[in-house]
Amino acid sequence: MALNLEAVGQPFAPLTKDYTWKDVVLYALGVGAGFSDLDYCYEKDLKVIPSFSIASIFDILMQIGLESKINLAGVLHGEQELIFHNPIPVEGTMTTEGKITHMYDKGEGRGALVVGESDTFHSNGQKLFTSICTVFGRLDGGFGGENAPKKEVTFPDREPDFTVEEAPSADQPLIYRLSGDVFSLHVDPEFAKMSGFEKPIMHGLCTHGFACRALINALIPGEPEKARRMACRFSKTLYPGMPIKTVIWKTEDGKALWRVINTETGDTVIDNGIFEYGEVPKREIRYDGRVAIVTGAGAGLGKAYALELARRGAKVVVNDLGGARDGSGDGSATPADEVVNEIKAAGGEAVANYDNVATAEGGENIVKTALDAFGTVDILINNAGILRDKSFVKMTPDNWHAVLNVHLQGAYNVTRPAFAVMKEKAYGRIVMTTSAAGLYGNFGQTNYTAAKMALVGLMNTLKIEGKKYDVKVNTIAPVAASRLTEDVLPPELYEKLKPEFVTPMALFLCSEECPVTGNVYNVGMGFYNRAAFLTGPGSVLTDGQSIPELEDVKDNLGKISSLDKGKPYFDVNEQIGDLMAAFSPKAADDAGGGDAAGPSVADIFGSLADSFKPEAATGVDVVFQYHISGDGGGDWYTAIQNSTCTVEAGKHDKPSCTLKMDAGDFTAMMTGKLPAMQAYTSGKLLIEGDIMKSQLIEKLFKL
Ligand code: NAI
Repeated sequence: MALNLEAVGQPFAPLTKDYTWKDVVLYALGVGAGFSDLDYCYEKDLKVIPSFSIASIFDILMQIGLESKINLAGVLHGEQELIFHNPIPVEGTMTTEGKITHMYDKGEGRGALVVGESDTFHSNGQKLFTSICTVFGRLDGGFGGENAPKKEVTFPDREPDFTVEEAPSADQPLIYRLSGDVFSLHVDPEFAKMSGFEKPIMHGLCTHGFACRALINALIPGEPEKARRMACRFSKTLYPGMPIKTVIWKTEDGKALWRVINTETGDTVIDNGIFEYGEVPKREIRYDGRVAIVTGAGAGLGKAYALELARRGAKVVVNDLGGARDGSGDGSATPADEVVNEIKAAGGEAVANYDNVATAEGGENIVKTALDAFGTVDILINNAGILRDKSFVKMTPDNWHAVLNVHLQGAYNVTRPAFAVMKEKAYGRIVMTTSAAGLYGNFGQTNYTAAKMALVGLMNTLKIEGKKYDVKVNTIAPVAASRLTEDVLPPELYEKLKPEFVTPMALFLCSEECPVTGNVYNVGMGFYNRAAFLTGPGSVLTDGQSIPELEDVKDNLGKISSLDKGKPYFDVNEQIGDLMAAFSPKAADDAGGGDAAGPSVADIFGSLADSFKPEAATGVDVVFQYHISGDGGGDWYTAIQNSTCTVEAGKHDKPSCTLKMDAGDFTAMMTGKLPAMQAYTSGKLLIEGDIMKSQLIEKLFKL
């Protein structure tokens, strides 16, 4: 099957991984740490080996394989580069976002390179590391693409400055695999033989971990957090139990070149190694080169945002109409001008804009001000706001519309032209301003709460439309002392609620480092928490065919209303997915009926011909033999010839390839619960014969 060239540039689904100190220690033991470097193995003052990074996002390699449709039979991990931005904490959640950036063609019979790049963020908000991973597909060359640019590493012609000898144990892969890479090649003697090796081989990334420890011990002893970059090429396989040495040349301040050599054979196992090290970069988040628009920035919260954005390097458009608290009056240039003057006096860059966000021309003009003055727009904070509180019966249409016009239409008017620029440049950060009153309700504010909640709806769709273009859209619900709240908040509280307390959250959501989109945060006085719609697990009242009675709703209202085990959805598809799942055989069984095991193996083969795609089978002549072990298993084969498919029980005389699987794993794979690639790399799916032909299955059947 050919490489999927369309996968280049398409973001992977974000990968999240929770980990604890025990995962950190298990990895350290897997790469040979022990009492001699107890800092990596003891939870007291525990330190994380920086190469733990790639082990903990190992699934990204699977993503690269899956999305590129590389031929599994010829896959090797070619090169690995890691750039360390911040030390890895000993526990937390990592979120990884990435994509395939390049596919290079080395030529027919010489293979192809698929390069995947990803950024990993910690739940503490810090960007931890960037991984650039090159997968070599031995069997995928000749697709007509460009060859990869040459990367030369010239080693000094002298003795190395350090040689670190190690002796990985003969059982090393058995420990290392527990950190994530459970590919059978490193554990299963039969599988290893089938793949052409005497016995299971070391994981390349395990040897890489040994090298990382060696580099730290030699160059920055006891300070793994000073590792800045580690790059290398995997050049030869290694059997467990073979002694190795990491040879290191210091080439300049903060930089070394390195190799790992099999001490017994003299073979270079890892080549072209580069290691850079130095002080941990300062954590300051900057906006240099970024252009920000803040609406309503002449006072209150908007002013605090504008000043801090400019202090951190952004060029700022300070928009403010300068009207009264209820939006009345002709407006005045003074508030926006004063903020611009303050920014300039402090050495920053800013321009004033006095347009009204409530009109479409005003919105266009605000964005035009950014384009004219600074050439682009990267950041937009929709902050302008007014209040016209009245209890509902007294809420006249002019009060209703005035508030909706500024908050909701205002956000629409400015965001639309700004979003067009961001989409074009494939970068943007947008912050909406809602309110706790909108999220939870407040007497006398029907106009304001309706508008504020509508902004959450605007964000919900914009986050989806912006996702592909790295435009992140989030919302804050601030609480701060300002003109809007001076007679709303009790005086003692008012004193404590400086707008500057809100700035860190609003500005972090505008930063490149921001890993989230579509989230809502309550912010005030240094207290920050996320607010979300939780959806409860609900209750299935009928089989989906007959209409339930009203009385059924009444009887089940407790269950229907329960938010126990509720969860937030990212989009409507997740919600519909749960709706469909509620009627799956498994759910029906959980509810006390139906077939617990889902479709049987025989059922799957019985309906396999229905999912055959004849249009994809022109010229294909292939026989897939299945040997399914365990309960309900047996032998089946599918024969495809002249765009027709026959499915038969039993054994075929001349299968093109044979797929061996346990019945449970097979049903999981065929019902979409177990990705085929994962089944293969974990050894749950064994393929004998022509492995390349087996990859046609995905093309020929709608699985
Ligand atoms: P503020 O009254 O101090 O600042 C709002 C600014 O927006 C004013 O300078 C005003 O001239 C400007 N503005 C109003 N209408 C405009 C228009 N049509 N075009 C351009 N500029 C306009 O108020 P504050 O407290 O700083 O509010 C900022 C945002 O935060 C508002 O959206 C508000 O609803 C929201 N908010 C504030 C809370 C608080 O506790 N202060 C609570 C919840 C939400």
